[in-house]
Amino acid sequence: MGKISVFTGQKSGVRKAVFVILTVVLLMLCACGRTDMEKDMTAQTDQKSEGTGNIENIGNVQNADAADADNKAAKTLENMAENFVLIPGGTFQMGSPEDEAWRSEDETQHMVTVSDFYMGIYELTQAEYQEIMGENPSNFSGDDLPVENITWLDAIRYCNARSEKEGFMPAYTIDGQTIVWNRGADGYRLPTEAEWEYACRAGTVTPFHTETSISAEEANYYGHYPYEIENNYFSQGNLTTKPGQYRQTTVDVDSFSSNAWGLYNMHGNVGEWVWDYYGEYGTEAVTDPIGAETGTLRVYRGGGWNDFAKNMRSAYRATLAEDKGSFNIGIRLVRGIAGGSASVMSAGTQNASSSGGKVLIVFFSWGGNTKGIAEEIQSQTGADLFEIELVNPYSDDYNTVLDEAQRDQNEQARPELANHVEDMEEYDTILLGYPNWWASIPMPIASFLEEYDFSGKTIIPFCSHGGGRFGQSLTAISKLAPDAAMGEALSVHYSGGNSLPEDVSAWLKENGIIE
Ligand SMILES: Cc1cc2nc3c(=O)[nH]c(=O)nc-3n(C[C@H](O)[C@H](O)[C@H](O)COP(=O)(O)O)c2cc1C
Repeated sequence: MGKISVFTGQKSGVRKAVFVILTVVLLMLCACGRTDMEKDMTAQTDQKSEGTGNIENIGNVQNADAADADNKAAKTLENMAENFVLIPGGTFQMGSPEDEAWRSEDETQHMVTVSDFYMGIYELTQAEYQEIMGENPSNFSGDDLPVENITWLDAIRYCNARSEKEGFMPAYTIDGQTIVWNRGADGYRLPTEAEWEYACRAGTVTPFHTETSISAEEANYYGHYPYEIENNYFSQGNLTTKPGQYRQTTVDVDSFSSNAWGLYNMHGNVGEWVWDYYGEYGTEAVTDPIGAETGTLRVYRGGGWNDFAKNMRSAYRATLAEDKGSFNIGIRLVRGIAGGSASVMSAGTQNASSSGGKVLIVFFSWGGNTKGIAEEIQSQTGADLFEIELVNPYSDDYNTVLDEAQRDQNEQARPELANHVEDMEEYDTILLGYPNWWASIPMPIASFLEEYDFSGKTIIPFCSHGGGRFGQSLTAISKLAPDAAMGEALSVHYSGGNSLPEDVSAWLKENGIIE
């Protein structure tokens, strides 16, 4: 058999059909080569029993500590709500080892000690959000589905509102976008990034708390892309976890099995906002860290329903501005005194403002779909248009470009650009278009973002995709241009079809680009 086409453009009907068929082909690949498969199954069973042993051990440690932990808990918190579990404090290695596949450089390993805290065993549901806030911003609909599409600031407001309703001391003082976290308060709050990772790992040191890679029967994610599929499309016998279902929606918060500490859906379903500003980890040991002192981005963890497995790893760090929400980001509540009583102030991030400034449309397109969207935007705005071109363009051959793009992403390459925006300082707003490539940005977009100073400017992404929506492209853009504000992004399925003009116009209005 020749090579398989993974994603395709709507430009060509054949390509689209191939993409639709891909899932079937991937699944068929799992089913053929019985001998290999049987070998795999045996290998998997062996590994699984080792893994289970470890999980049981962790469970035992947890049980041994439970009585002590219960005593401590009784001293610190009263009237703990249902569905919360005590996470007994301890020390762990935060971040990922250098040999972990698909790790990012910002996952520097360091020792972290966290104090006891209580954590919701489930992601916060839509019913819980609705009950307190009287509204539900979610993209999907269902009482027991996780609330999503809430901003970090919405999450902070929810925590306080629920604390007040239930008679606890609110954890936050809110003054517009200035938030003070009163660490001595006993009300609901977001976990810190360290608490989240500690709780997710539940004693494991592997990429996922399942110890082996996580399957679509164990978590809700873009199941066609299990961990390490990227290097094994044609050697799936090497994979611990085979491709599985992509549900394309959130699922009830009690779905699947919990981790060893009783927490459900720490990997997948929705990413979960944490308190911390995004910043570099140090290498020194720390106790109850609370993240960078200032920043423009907040961290969210765990990956969502449309993420590839590599972006659900226990150590993976996703970011977004605190005033933005997304259909794959929700929250999980925490209560507990996080290492003392000092207050932590956070002064708020820049808001996207597109009023009055000059607008530039920048795009990279391989198959023409993003180009078509860019041209539609241009026709509605009259803004200047700039197509990113490469000194060494990618192959025109579809199967070859898949490989080339994968290689560039693995290496975090920065392909050399053939053209440059001469007068970038004239533009206040950049509408930045690209295809979703391997659940992120094509690397030429990284080259572009590193070439200019975007401080004080607003970047508004638009992304053409084959089913994965933005993937982790917004995280990638925000990490590469941390000084820019980010507007509301637009995701377009392939070329967008007949509704493209309408969708583009609604999006431009939402961002204040047209009236
Ligand atoms: C190298 C490559 C990788 C891709 N990876 C993804 C992906 O991870 N998720 C997704 O939804 N679509 C993926 N696609 C599909 C494209 O995002 C989609 O076809 C898009 O419309 C292409 O835009 P363009 O025609 O402007 O290049 C990929 C396509 C290519 C060529």
